[in-house]
Amino acid sequence: MPSACNVVVLISGSGSNLQALIDSSQAGDNPLSIRAVISNRADAYGLERAKAAGIDTCVLDHKAFAGREAFDAALIEAIDTFEPQLVVLAGFMRILSSDFVRHYDGRLLNIHPSLLPKYKGLHTHQRALEAGDSEHGCSVHFVTEELDGGPLVVQAVIPVRSGETLDSLAQRVHEQEHLIYPLAVRWFAEGRLRLAKQGAMLDGQPLPSTGHLIRT
Ligand code: GAR
Repeated sequence: MPSACNVVVLISGSGSNLQALIDSSQAGDNPLSIRAVISNRADAYGLERAKAAGIDTCVLDHKAFAGREAFDAALIEAIDTFEPQLVVLAGFMRILSSDFVRHYDGRLLNIHPSLLPKYKGLHTHQRALEAGDSEHGCSVHFVTEELDGGPLVVQAVIPVRSGETLDSLAQRVHEQEHLIYPLAVRWFAEGRLRLAKQGAMLDGQPLPSTGHLIRT
């Protein structure tokens, strides 16, 4: 079994993706070790999930800082206390400065509720429905300085059903997120996934531009 891969997870809200990661880290053969959960919101329910799992938590309120650079510098300091090999954004609703992203180059993952490069930013489910898309889904990607634009690792694609509502689509995408995020994080923890000059690599081979595709 490979040695543990220390991970810090950043959240802003419910933390259902965090929960999926906690659950997967509890499988005996997973080298993932969640060392800490950091939230920019004191009321994030994900903090309760972390505490229930015996994981250290920390709240860093962005409103207490003069600006993005000052907050991100404090965030780096808080994260690096835990010496993580990987930092995982799990519903962390903050735009990160270039300095922050560069500091974690190749060891920062994000999950986004759309089939990137479609629908960067917010309201992704609504935009997919309004566009009449026949497929929608979610993406895990390495974070680079381009917002929601880093190399893709894995995407889950689901059909949009007739009569689909915003709630039903959001829920179905969320279920997929809980499958693909633990998968991607485990690949990284096992040393199978890395970011190279040419993009995301799995088992030494470049991933396609869509990342690994999972269709249901
Ligand atoms: C997830 O749907 C995630 O994809 C999204 O926030 C939600 C967090 O849910 N992230 C973004 O939109 C980032 N741009 P959770 O707190 O239940 O994991």
